[in-house]
Amino acid sequence: MLFVNACLRNEESRTLGLCREYLEGIDSVQEVNLGQMRLEPFYAESVAYRAQLEAAGVFDDPVFDLAKQFAEADEIVVGAPYWDLSFPAALKVYLEHVSVCDITFHYTDDARCEGLCRARHLTYLTTCGGSVAGANLGYEYLCGIARMFGIPEVRFAVAENLDVRGIDVEAQLAEAREKVAALKAAR
Ligand SMILES: Cc1cc2nc3c(=O)[nH]c(=O)nc-3n(C[C@H](O)[C@H](O)[C@H](O)COP(=O)(O)O)c2cc1C
Repeated sequence: MLFVNACLRNEESRTLGLCREYLEGIDSVQEVNLGQMRLEPFYAESVAYRAQLEAAGVFDDPVFDLAKQFAEADEIVVGAPYWDLSFPAALKVYLEHVSVCDITFHYTDDARCEGLCRARHLTYLTTCGGSVAGANLGYEYLCGIARMFGIPEVRFAVAENLDVRGIDVEAQLAEAREKVAALKAAR
């Protein structure tokens, strides 16, 4: 089980609370804590460095560690708050690090992109201040990534309207926790 933790507000994060609900009691969870890791985005030099290793088929460099970990996970949980219609940039940077040809995906002889990840599903958990309706773009992006990486199923739970004045935040979270529990029961 790989837990990609993009809950950047740490212990304040309601999204992290939902993730913990899901992960509780599950053995051998490997956590990637993006708030702690502070990964760098790829720029000209770093992307060229990685590309020449890929071209040479040399995959023992640490630059590939996150991609290997992602490809080998049986199950993946991504926890990320809804920021600016999608998710924090730190998660996009992480996905740049895991998106590596010949580790998480490759091209077939007839030029088709084919996934190489073994996870049977990816579970995307989020919370938002308003509503994700009509602009669930982080989730949709993760669906695209999962397709590219060969992960057959993406599951989703959200707690909405958490920043709406006067809302019963606990009731909203309780409803989302039920959805999370249902996802967990169907693992
Ligand atoms: C930088 C930032 C951007 C946000 N963008 C949105 C947004 O586009 N739509 C929305 O409904 N809420 C937005 N929110 C509110 C968060 O989605 C909401 O507070 C969420 O519950 C935060 O999750 P957390 O408690 O796990 O940190 C934003 C919050 C922050 C800090």
